[in-house]
Amino acid sequence: MSYPQGSDPNEVKVWDIVVRVGHWSLVVLFAAAYLTGEIEVKTLHAWAGYAIIGIVLFRILWGFVGTRHARFSDFVFGWTETAAYARSLLTPRPKHYLGHNPLGGWMVVALLATVLLVSWTGLELYAAEGKGPLAETQLTIVAPAQAHDRDGDGDDDHESLWEDAHELFAHLSLLLVLLHVAGVVVASLIHRENLVRAMITGRKRAE
Ligand code: HEM
Ligand code: HEM
Repeated sequence: MSYPQGSDPNEVKVWDIVVRVGHWSLVVLFAAAYLTGEIEVKTLHAWAGYAIIGIVLFRILWGFVGTRHARFSDFVFGWTETAAYARSLLTPRPKHYLGHNPLGGWMVVALLATVLLVSWTGLELYAAEGKGPLAETQLTIVAPAQAHDRDGDGDDDHESLWEDAHELFAHLSLLLVLLHVAGVVVASLIHRENLVRAMITGRKRAE
């Protein structure tokens, strides 16, 4: 039997609007930032990055004051519970969580952290080029005036350092995103529920 959207009595609200809009905005902006990393004009890239920083910082705050399943306390579990969940995946009746499962929860933490690291190193790289909000600050490791080209690669060494770090974290975050999406597909199959749909409607089948 089909019900009007949001009224199926077998479903409960899990993801609030902040989590859902934040998530899908992050997907679009992350793709935009990743794809514009190597183009010459950096305005779009930097603005996608600023928006990402805003969303991630707000999501972290929401992780303390938001609705039940949005809180870190709801989905960050210790080693014992995480290992027990991982073991249960090999049994015919794996443990089920209404919010993020323990492995997914740690992936959320890892994604938020690496995306922040990419954005921070991006800000520092931009600053080393004399642009962006950190250009006038002392946050850089070496003052630009002291930096030079000791390794002879034609680039300012100071800039190269941030560039290498930015590139490394950008690739690491893409790797985590791919693992994250694979995890979502596998968990959807194992628990026989459509997690992508739940991230759109905010609703899941009740326990
Ligand atoms: C999650 C956010 C971000 C992602 C995924 C990302 C990704 C990338 C990637 C893949 C590259 C190309 C690296 C290479 O192969 O050389 C790049 C370059 C760059 N990014 Fe980002 N970035 C992000 C945020 C930022 C932010 C916030 C800024 C500064 C406001 C920034 C500034 C730069 C600059 C200046 C370059 C050019 C490096 C060069 O000169 O080649 N990025 N970024
Ligand atoms: C098309 C690609 C993507 C799909 C299909 C997808 C799908 C999902 C789903 C279904 C969840 C909920 C998992 C659960 O039920 O426990 C989720 C959570 C999450 N995803 Fe993605 N995701 C994608 C890309 C991304 C990207 C690119 C990022 C970050 C750069 C990201 C970051 C997150 C975060 C932080 C959460 C936790 C949501 C919250 O509690 O606020 N995802 N994703």
